[in-house]
Amino acid sequence: MEKFKRTTVTSALPYANGPVHIGHLAGVYIPADIYVRYLRLKGEKVLFIGGSDEHGVPITIKARKEGVTPQDIVDRYHGIIKKSFEDFGISFDVYSRTSSKTHHDVASNFFKTLYDKGEFVEQTSEQYYDEEAKQFLADRYITGTCPHCKNEHAYGDQCEACGTSLSPLDLINPKSAISGSIPVLKETKHWYLPLDKHESWLRQWILESHKEWKPNVYGQCKSWLDMGLQPRAVSRDLDWGIPVPVDGAEGKVLYVWFDAPIGYISNTKELCDGNPQEYGKWETWWKDPETRLLHFIGKDNIVFHCIVFPSMLKAEGSYILPDNVPANEFLNLEGDKISTSRNWAVWLHEYLEDFPGKQDILRYVLTANAPETKDNDFTWKDFQARNNNELVAIFGNFVNRTLVLTQKYFEGKVPARGELTDYDKETLKEFVDVKHEVEKLLNVFRFRDAQKEAMNLARIGNKYLADTEPWKLAKTDMDRVATILNISLQITANLAIAFEPFLPFTSAKLRGFIHLPKFKWSELGSIDLLPAGHQTSTSELLFEKIEDDVMEAQVQKLLNTKKANELANYEPKPILENIAFDDFTKLDIRVGTVIDCQKVPKADKLLQFKIDDGLGGRTIVSGIAQHYKPEDLIGKQVCFIANLAPRKLKGIDSEGMILSAEDADGKLVVVSPTNGVKPGSEVK
Ligand code: MF3
Ligand code: ZN
Repeated sequence: MEKFKRTTVTSALPYANGPVHIGHLAGVYIPADIYVRYLRLKGEKVLFIGGSDEHGVPITIKARKEGVTPQDIVDRYHGIIKKSFEDFGISFDVYSRTSSKTHHDVASNFFKTLYDKGEFVEQTSEQYYDEEAKQFLADRYITGTCPHCKNEHAYGDQCEACGTSLSPLDLINPKSAISGSIPVLKETKHWYLPLDKHESWLRQWILESHKEWKPNVYGQCKSWLDMGLQPRAVSRDLDWGIPVPVDGAEGKVLYVWFDAPIGYISNTKELCDGNPQEYGKWETWWKDPETRLLHFIGKDNIVFHCIVFPSMLKAEGSYILPDNVPANEFLNLEGDKISTSRNWAVWLHEYLEDFPGKQDILRYVLTANAPETKDNDFTWKDFQARNNNELVAIFGNFVNRTLVLTQKYFEGKVPARGELTDYDKETLKEFVDVKHEVEKLLNVFRFRDAQKEAMNLARIGNKYLADTEPWKLAKTDMDRVATILNISLQITANLAIAFEPFLPFTSAKLRGFIHLPKFKWSELGSIDLLPAGHQTSTSELLFEKIEDDVMEAQVQKLLNTKKANELANYEPKPILENIAFDDFTKLDIRVGTVIDCQKVPKADKLLQFKIDDGLGGRTIVSGIAQHYKPEDLIGKQVCFIANLAPRKLKGIDSEGMILSAEDADGKLVVVSPTNGVKPGSEVK
């Protein structure tokens, strides 16, 4: 750190086309917030820059779908996102937006500077144009047949059926998603950032000078560089965004990935210009080589932050480059990829409706399970276990016992320490080590291990109380009790400091209990945080156990989403080839009444039926055990194919087949006449 005097921390600007979910928090905002809080506690100069990314095609698609303007969309979600971040204690110094006037000016000027320096190349190419809607079509606005898997609903940038990334020209039978018409190819001019020209310094800068970057980041950069870089278009034909500020560029805007990272600069400028006394000049945070620039992002943003944006900054000429880009992998939810469009997410605003005041549990779990080196999975079961077994049973339990005992024996006043035993000294030594460990890990962005290490303080405390058993000594040796509780209280105060970056709400609550208003990171490890005689309060509980039914409700909510998605996406199978009437009459379908129904032993799918078929009865085995309880079918009427050649299933002769309909989600529903009919009636 000596090289640097201050740190500018940015976190990816989320698209303002939906609310934020746990994946956002885990991947980007919690790690950034932990890091920034840590630096602030150490008394370092730091700015934490955030904001909404409000341009780009998906926002225009959403607006069109809802019949509102793109500005309406971003106004709505910017508000929701900003509030979620505040609610979760993400401590931005500024959270602004890319539709702001400041940003439009800054981004426009940035483009102009590069343009004037000749840093772009102009190139004309053919792109699809919708003659009815009179506009060029963004890749996402073109649908057609995928050349690889023949899915007829592929998009111009990707086929979601087979996952192949496509270019609009790959599509067979392209169609405009706006008007439905067949688009034509038309020439259009765009400006390109010639990344190929930046390749050699990028190689040197990343591959040689930044070997310390996280392996997932370094590796991705290396494979991009090894593939060879191509010029990238930085403008688009679109009517939502920042107009390209040169003559002859009507109807063209800056590509969203050109303007968005400049948003970091604009938002810094907005902050500093608004309060120069406090924050100084914005340029200091972006141009002074003694400033350290860090970008917190998710893995899908690596190329933009490690290759494209640095090339823009370098081309401009007066900016510093990022010192590190601690990108994370992805968080999945209950085994599936989080998806905004499929509503497969835990939305932050909904979480807080269901768990008011419990921000820190989510912060804790998302850090404990952060996708730092590989994709990870969030499950409600793990959430419950970490709360109950770690926050409640270790952290909360230790703090509560300490404060309750202090209340009981010393009226809540910190007792004076007597002489220390060897065991006391050992305990204290262990917890001084914790400080160095946490620091070492935070310095290299290993947040999950750092939090684990902080949790060790509580483990140490818990073990200390369990081993020394002050409640047993109270009758015989109050001096010893005083020493034990003094040490336990010092550990408690240390917990409040150590957890401030991770669990700020809990830390504040805990500081309230022990009346510790001011504190510094450097005091972590001290055993004199609370002087003898200092008053503490009786505590309420820091954490509460979460019961099974609460978790089951969350899991059910997700199952409902899954079911709704399946129903929404259901497409009946195409009808089979025609058959002759004679073929149909060969099928003898009858109605029968279920006399008896039982599970077939050792077969989880099969039910064995005794059917009254009006002709003396028959046995049928049917694979619907996962959809019905046997007793619910007794007495019901079913339709069955009566002349199917008998087959043996699990040793039982099955004489026919019961007809069921398969619902969109795969559930089987038995077909039954709407009114009762005589067993043996023909179905025709
Ligand atoms: N909106 C982008 C995303 O969610 C991130 C933009 S980061 C910035 O993937 F640098 F461009 F701001
Ligand atoms: Zn495909």
